[in-house]
Amino acid sequence: MSTLITNIAELMTQDLEHRVLKDAAVVVEGERISWIGAAADAPAADDAVDVGGRAVLPGWVDSHTHLLFAGDRTAEFEARMAGESYAAGGIAVTMNATRATSDFDLTRLALGRVDEAVSQGTTYLETKTGYGLDVEHETRSARIASTVADQVTYLGAHLVPAGQDPEEYTSLVCGPMLDAVRPFVQWADVFCEEGAFTAEQSRRVLLACRDAGLGLRVHGNQLGEGPGVQLAVELGAASVDHVNYLATGDVDALAGTWTGWDAGTGSGSRGTVATCLPACDLSTRQPLAPARALLDAGVQMALASNCNPGTSYTSSMAFCVATAVLQMRLSVHEAVRAATYGGALALHKDTGNDADGERAVGSIAVGHRADLHVLNAPSATHLAYRPGMPLTYAVWRAGKQAR
Ligand code: NIG
Repeated sequence: MSTLITNIAELMTQDLEHRVLKDAAVVVEGERISWIGAAADAPAADDAVDVGGRAVLPGWVDSHTHLLFAGDRTAEFEARMAGESYAAGGIAVTMNATRATSDFDLTRLALGRVDEAVSQGTTYLETKTGYGLDVEHETRSARIASTVADQVTYLGAHLVPAGQDPEEYTSLVCGPMLDAVRPFVQWADVFCEEGAFTAEQSRRVLLACRDAGLGLRVHGNQLGEGPGVQLAVELGAASVDHVNYLATGDVDALAGTWTGWDAGTGSGSRGTVATCLPACDLSTRQPLAPARALLDAGVQMALASNCNPGTSYTSSMAFCVATAVLQMRLSVHEAVRAATYGGALALHKDTGNDADGERAVGSIAVGHRADLHVLNAPSATHLAYRPGMPLTYAVWRAGKQAR
């Protein structure tokens, strides 16, 4: 079954050539994109959808979320807006509420959040554990996460639960907890920050997880200059996320990881993606991450929602893109790229086509997964020009219309 999607005013492909086509069309066949080009040259297909002169871009790839949680932290948010600063300890509030919630309800809550994200144009997402914080509840979160998200990250090292010895808890995270979650996860992450895990504890966790075959990510440099970026670079992590407080050496170190990468062909040795989380920065009143400086230095960047109950209770990638343009000085093309191709790069889902069956997401090209976001606007510029407006008109996920 093939479907011609036509009358596209602007097709922002985010492919390796950064093509933006006017008066374009796309053909979707099964779960894949089989043709893109000028609408006037489009081949015949079984079915046709006229999108009425709207813009089409890749579905958002949200590479950083925490969707497995229960409970509410409105009071903490209100206190923060009244002047208190964010501290990692709030995680324990969510841990208690999450542990007290049944499997059925936790699944329902997570699915509801995925549904919210998809309805706003997200077609591929990662989510993390991290609100269980013992073997039983981390394993449960990982298991449920594997049924609702595309990729799952183990974040047993989110907070040392009250009353536990930090070294003993780190050993648990590196040992029995890791063994138990391993069947359900692809990645490991650690909150390497004052009040959470030290550089040495973080290194222990990351090395144990790498030995267990997991890819690495790091929450780093969120609340102050710290060792997160350097650790991520040293251990070859796929991404370091937050990156609010960067020293010149951090930016240079991240840029250095991309020297063996050929951005024109999307091949070579991958570096560490810097993932900026602007919704979180606003909600915690932290300085926005220096996205402009990172891009100018040659760092590959992702934008993600960081949807979680403490610091960023939104899955709106459009909001992140608008903020990146309006406040972080990215062009619309750069911001959309970071929220699509950049997320795919951070999750190692940027390559793959007909040859290997592992279909790339985050860009519109023949053989890639047919993940399309139709805006109720003639161009992607409207994402920043009309911030906060409900611009999602239609969504295709793996070739099926999801909205
Ligand atoms: O990414 N930084 C660590 N984790 C989350 C916050 C989690 C929470 O406070 O519940 C974040 O901001």
